[in-house]
Amino acid sequence: MSALELVRVRARAKQMEAKARSVVRRYIPHDPTTRQALFLSLPHQEAFYGGAAGGGKSDALLMGALEHVDKPNYAALLLRRTFQDLSKPKALLDRAREWLQGSGARWNDQKKQWRFPSGALLAFGYLEGDDDIYQYQSAEYQFIGFDELTQFSERQYTYLFSRLRRLSGSDVPLRMRSASNPGGIGAAWVYERFIPDDWQPEDAVEICKYEKNGRAFVPARLEDNPHLDQATYEESLDKLDEVTRAQLRKGDWRIRAQGNIYKAWTDGPDSHHVITWSQFESVFRVRRIPSDWLGSNGQDWGFDPDPAATVWNFVAGENSPIIHGVKLAGSIFVPAILTCKGEIPDHVGDKIKAIEDEHGWGSRIQYRVMSHEASSQRETYRIKCGLNFQKWKPDAHGGIAQMQHVIRIRHKDKPHPFKPWLMGRPDFYVIVPDDQMVNPKGDEGLALLRAEFREYRYVEPNVTERKGSSNIVPYDFFNHYMDAQRGIAARWFASVRPMTEAEKIDSELPEGWRLENKPNVAEGDWAFEGWVMAREAEIAKIKRRFEQKNPAHGNAWKPQSPLDQMGQRWGGKWGDE
Ligand SMILES: Nc1ncnc2c1ncn2[C@@H]1O[C@H](COP(=O)(O)OP(=O)(O)OP(=O)(O)O)[C@@H](O)[C@H]1O
Ligand SMILES: [Mg+2]
Repeated sequence: MSALELVRVRARAKQMEAKARSVVRRYIPHDPTTRQALFLSLPHQEAFYGGAAGGGKSDALLMGALEHVDKPNYAALLLRRTFQDLSKPKALLDRAREWLQGSGARWNDQKKQWRFPSGALLAFGYLEGDDDIYQYQSAEYQFIGFDELTQFSERQYTYLFSRLRRLSGSDVPLRMRSASNPGGIGAAWVYERFIPDDWQPEDAVEICKYEKNGRAFVPARLEDNPHLDQATYEESLDKLDEVTRAQLRKGDWRIRAQGNIYKAWTDGPDSHHVITWSQFESVFRVRRIPSDWLGSNGQDWGFDPDPAATVWNFVAGENSPIIHGVKLAGSIFVPAILTCKGEIPDHVGDKIKAIEDEHGWGSRIQYRVMSHEASSQRETYRIKCGLNFQKWKPDAHGGIAQMQHVIRIRHKDKPHPFKPWLMGRPDFYVIVPDDQMVNPKGDEGLALLRAEFREYRYVEPNVTERKGSSNIVPYDFFNHYMDAQRGIAARWFASVRPMTEAEKIDSELPEGWRLENKPNVAEGDWAFEGWVMAREAEIAKIKRRFEQKNPAHGNAWKPQSPLDQMGQRWGGKWGDE
């Protein structure tokens, strides 16, 4: 092709593109911001637009979905986790209606889809349960957009790839697009999938894309969106708790992903630890804490900016049902938390009492513990409110081993007592209203407690500071409920004496070689010596097995987290973590 021809072809292509765009323009009333334009221009099959609230992410998804609606047979799908999410005012359905009404596109309310004059289709859907994916079994799309991706499971997301199909004889690209704020039950997998390990929220200032395993990530910032009244928006963000605020304001992804203390903790509909009151009722036949259960009340005192975090624990009574052969008696349940900010102790005390009066808990609280010196607060609670808090000075690790112990999933060969589709169960459950399982709000959904469980972590000391593990301590920022809960665990959970090293080894031995079965003959007798030798050979085998499983054991140069050491010390058998 000659140079002149090439110029002509390019000019023609440009003309056609402009024409096409003007057709599409009818449907897209907004001009993309620079960052939205970057997101829309990505050639990657998979791209994620994530970060600060209000940055224009949902708008960008809708623009992307509409980009090729002038092509016959083009089909796009936009998804939210639930139908309610989709149909809230200003959410995707509403916004599409604003954009498309009177444009020539026709709405089918039953199918929840827009049909364009070209024949193209824009469909809306939701994936509430894992099985909802099969609704889309036979459909094909060239654009699939997930809004608020962290509310989905990874399985739901990856399944939809099978629905991404090219149109024959068309150059419409296949695009899997998603947008989300940080946080939410899927934050960890979304972070893993899209956010580069060394990415920092400060990097979001620059308008550019990042890549991880061939997938693109565009960070979103509030400042990108001149169409939003930022002052009003910031004001509303200031009312949120500090973590949600950091997440939504700065688009901070790291804060969600780093929990390393309670690794067994799970959240969401398939969580072992978070159950709904309906699930609770299906087992205990009542929708409240049964009136014979005993409880404990823990608080981490704070005023401002730290909250006063109060949590209640109850232990299932002796007559609790036995489910799949395992007693529920003794399991711990958390029915409520109370978060107060900038409130004097008198008020917090009144609120604690109001909650306990409402549920009739007061007389059943065996133990109240406050995880601070906070003596004057304790005095106020005692004198003015009749609430007797004990003092507990949290050291770096107190109560953590006990919490890890109850959070651990055991009985993995038996169905979960509240969610029979899961295997295994912990000894610690938090209970939330049915509509607070996904995307919990405030104290009703135990939001802050759940978020802290997920994120509670040890500070990584820098390498030069590392002289063993003693200076790895919990991160001192997002831990109010964790401290309150630790106080309860350290002082009120059933105490179990840790086994000594020798007892642990002994318990691992075949029965005949345990000390309790020592042959009843005098030491020095040949039968006794034989028994000792055989026993020692068995012990050596166990030690070898243990060292193979735990290569770091006994190597002072390889620091372990205190968590690892405690898990071993605290009664558990080797290797069953
Ligand atoms: N390019 C644009 N032109 C005009 N208005 C825009 C543009 N982008 C976004 N907006 C408007 O700004 C507001 C916030 O945008 P949007 O809801 O898309 O942000 P978001 O990042 O999805 O927010 P959230 O994190 O709350 O979901 C909406 O009213 C939206 O219509
Ligand atoms: Mg949005």
